[in-house]
Amino acid sequence: MQTNLITEGAITFEAEGAFYNPKMLLNREINVAMSLSLGLTDYLDALSASGIRGLRVAKEAGVEKVSFNDINPHACQLIEKNLARNSILGTVTCSNANVLLHERHFQAVDLDPFGSPSSYLSAASRSALSYLFITATDTAPLCGAHLMSGIRKYMAVPLRTVYHREMGARILLGLAARELARLDKSMQPMLTHVTDHYVRTYLRLTNGAKAADRCLRKLGYVEHCPACGSFRLMPEAEPEGICRHCKGKTRLAGPLWLGGIHERETIKTALGWDGLGHRAQKILSTCAGEIEAPMYYDHHSICERLSLTPGKIDEAIERLIERGYQASRTHFCGMGIKTNACMTDVEMAIRPD
Ligand SMILES: C[S@@+](CC[C@H](N)C(=O)[O-])C[C@H]1O[C@@H](n2cnc3c(N)ncnc32)[C@H](O)[C@@H]1O
Ligand SMILES: [Zn+2]
Repeated sequence: MQTNLITEGAITFEAEGAFYNPKMLLNREINVAMSLSLGLTDYLDALSASGIRGLRVAKEAGVEKVSFNDINPHACQLIEKNLARNSILGTVTCSNANVLLHERHFQAVDLDPFGSPSSYLSAASRSALSYLFITATDTAPLCGAHLMSGIRKYMAVPLRTVYHREMGARILLGLAARELARLDKSMQPMLTHVTDHYVRTYLRLTNGAKAADRCLRKLGYVEHCPACGSFRLMPEAEPEGICRHCKGKTRLAGPLWLGGIHERETIKTALGWDGLGHRAQKILSTCAGEIEAPMYYDHHSICERLSLTPGKIDEAIERLIERGYQASRTHFCGMGIKTNACMTDVEMAIRPD
């Protein structure tokens, strides 16, 4: 196996092409910051490849017990070598992740698969005692570009909308909430970001049937109007109807997670780690400033539809706040406006006086 020597963060390690994706550096960097802020003690990198994710958690977040697993024996050899090179003690298993996750419990389980995490979610929900971290790179099914695949993998109907990045995150969270609820567990997302072509979420877990019931009540549907881009959140599925804003025919997406996706204080603590690069800092600060209202309006497409020359997004947000609404920017999209106002009020805030 032809390997290269790579340095990422505080780790120098060996990897070969299929086992190392440099585009995920930001994902791993934020992972170290979150692991540090949570004070983890026991972490499983369930799909390790070269082991870089777990190695960084061990060295840079100082997590005492880090376990590595990969089904591929070459990957396991690499992990052993990389542990020795960095003088880190860790346990390495070469199992099918689903088998390991059914056999053992870990304080924190990290799923970072090629593509969809859906086939590991059930076992990971069982194994994880306090935290479950998930990456999904199958954004096409999650965001509604591949409808049937989305339905099969996530047991939900996704829709391709201007806020498709958040749609994808909430479809994934919706499945996680249901998988956990089957085991009488509930979840509280601490950070959820969609960056490049993946969704990444950090979930805090709690045991108990009552909490799981409360969690399931945070699932719901989104009625979306493809004609004007307005949307409405609904606790129950309803027949597709007529848009209140433009009278267009609406479509329904869901079930998906309509609860909070960030914990501001945890993100602020994570921001305190000095190993974060500029882009990661920016993503985390924007996430910390996001209001809780699900989905967002796209400033640019509204201006286009109304034939307006786009003004400043921040000014539109200010006007919404002056009128008593909650409003913020969003890391999901540079043109996005998160608000609890309806389309008519957003249009008023965007139009020059
Ligand atoms: C995307 S890579 C992991 C990347 C790594 N976490 C990182 O940050 O660099 C996914 C890994 O999962 C492994 N894998 C695939 N199916 C598996 C299974 N059922 N059980 C355990 N490992 C599996 C593959 O061999 C591959 O190394
Ligand atoms: Zn409409």
